[in-house]
Amino acid sequence: MDNAAERRALVASLMARPASIAPKYFYDRLGCALYGAICELPEYYPTRTERGIFEAYRPAIAAAIGRGGQFVDLGAGACCKAEGWLPFVEPARYLAVDIAREAIARALARLEPEFPSVELAGIVADFTNGLDLEADLDGRPVTFFYPGSSIGNFTPDEAGAFLARVRAHCRPRPGSGLLIGVDTKKDVAKLVPAYADPTGVTAAFNRNVLNHVNRVLGSDFRPAEWSHVGLYDPGHGRIEMHLEAISPQSVRIDGALRAFDRGERIHTENSYKYAPEEFERLLRGAGFERLRRWTDDAGAFAVFHAS
Ligand code: AVI
Repeated sequence: MDNAAERRALVASLMARPASIAPKYFYDRLGCALYGAICELPEYYPTRTERGIFEAYRPAIAAAIGRGGQFVDLGAGACCKAEGWLPFVEPARYLAVDIAREAIARALARLEPEFPSVELAGIVADFTNGLDLEADLDGRPVTFFYPGSSIGNFTPDEAGAFLARVRAHCRPRPGSGLLIGVDTKKDVAKLVPAYADPTGVTAAFNRNVLNHVNRVLGSDFRPAEWSHVGLYDPGHGRIEMHLEAISPQSVRIDGALRAFDRGERIHTENSYKYAPEEFERLLRGAGFERLRRWTDDAGAFAVFHAS
C-alpha cells in the first residue's frame, strides 16, 4: 500500500463503529522504546521465556536450521534476537526486514564489524500486508526467523496465509525452514497482567498510538482522555487491547469531526494465543511437513522449527 492508501485505510478504521487502529501504528520511535520497556516488565513473560528456550536449546535448534544459508529476520527491529543466532548458524546472508528504516540501518551498522563474513542487508517492508521477498533471496536455503509471538497479532486466518507465503519461499530452496516463537494459551491470571501491567508501561504504549496517528493524519486526539484496556477473550483465544474514551469527545480527523461517546472504545490490538497442537495444525495447513517444538518447563511459550 502507498502512503495515501495507508492514510485512507487509517481514516476509515477510525470512522468505523467500532473504531480500530492497526497495531503497526504502535511502532514510532517512542512506541519502539516503550515496547522495549514492556519486554523488561516482570509481568511480560513472553520475551524472557522465549529467550530462555533459545538459550537452553540453541545447539539443537541451530542443528535443525543448518549452516551457510540465508537468515531472514522478520520484524528485525534492533536485530538483537537474531544476533544471538548468527554465530551458531553462520549464515552466508542476513536479511533484516522491518518497516522501521532507521532502526535496521543502525542495527546493521552495529553488526557489520562483528560479522565481517556475513553479507548483511536491510529490507524496508511492511510484510503484514503480504510477504514477497523473492527478488531479495538467492537460491541458497533460507531460514525465516519470526520470534516474539508476533504471529499472534494476525488473526488465525491471516496467520495461516502468512505461513503459507513463508512456505512458498521455502519450497524451491531445499533445506529451508521457519523458526518461530508462539505464546501459548494459559491462565488468565498470568495472561492479563502481561498486557495490563501495574506500572502502566503497556498503557503508555497503547496511548502513544494516538500521538502517532495525530502525526500521520494531523488529527487532534488527546491521549490523556483515553484509558487503557487489556482483556482476555477466551472465545477467540486472544488478548485484546483497546483505548476507552474517558469522557465524550470530538476528534478532528481528515477534516471531519468524529464524536466518541464516553466509554466508546478503539480496538488497537489482538494478540492470539495458541495451544501448541493448534499452532502445529496451522503450520501443517500452510504446507510445512517436518515440525520440531521446544518449550519452557511451564509450557508458557513454544518455539517451533518447521520445514
Ligand atoms: C509484538 N507483539 C508480539 C506484542 C504482543 O505481545 O502481542 C505486542 C504487545 N502489545 C502489548 N504488549 C506487547
